[in-house]
Amino acid sequence: MIKLGILIGPKGRGSNMLAIANACQSKRIEASIKVVVSPVSESDAVAKATEMGLRIKFVSPTSANYAIGLLASLEGCDLVCLAGFMRLLPAEVLSAFPNRILNIHPALLPKFGGKGMYGNHVHEAVIAAGETESGCTVHFVSDRYDEGEVILQRRCAVLPSDTIETLAARVLTEEHLAYPEAIRKVIENL
Ligand code: GRF
Repeated sequence: MIKLGILIGPKGRGSNMLAIANACQSKRIEASIKVVVSPVSESDAVAKATEMGLRIKFVSPTSANYAIGLLASLEGCDLVCLAGFMRLLPAEVLSAFPNRILNIHPALLPKFGGKGMYGNHVHEAVIAAGETESGCTVHFVSDRYDEGEVILQRRCAVLPSDTIETLAARVLTEEHLAYPEAIRKVIENL
């Protein structure tokens, strides 16, 4: 059974973490969540993880031993999934998990990615560019923002009536399908 480490961010909602946890529970993916790693002790994602009985570790990005702390918390994990985690990972962590760290981005990369392209900034830019299609991308994580190899994408329409919020919600629905699907694909190729 593949063991997953989930890295969440400081303001995590935890909806992708939940989608992955549900896919594990329903056996849509042959994996289990070994640990959820959070930079803060309180967030919606931490509350959800606690409620689900998941093991949680707190690792502060401002600590001197950040890389060591992350590596220790991820010990025994086969794959690492970033879900709302917005930093570049320390080189030590990248090299400990070659082609085994995944991220989800709320747009069709390589468009609308890179530093500063997160959350609603992404959807705002998609609407401003007059795109008729958006979606999400699950990709391997590299040492640059949003540039690793694409694992899979799911697409959805951008409607003329869309606001940032309506588009974000449509994309999020696709994210919850895409992440488990991508994990399954990676596991099949391990
Ligand atoms: C998602 O939109 C994901 O694409 C991005 O961060 C957000 C995390 O949302 N990387 P949630 O915490 O999983 O609900």
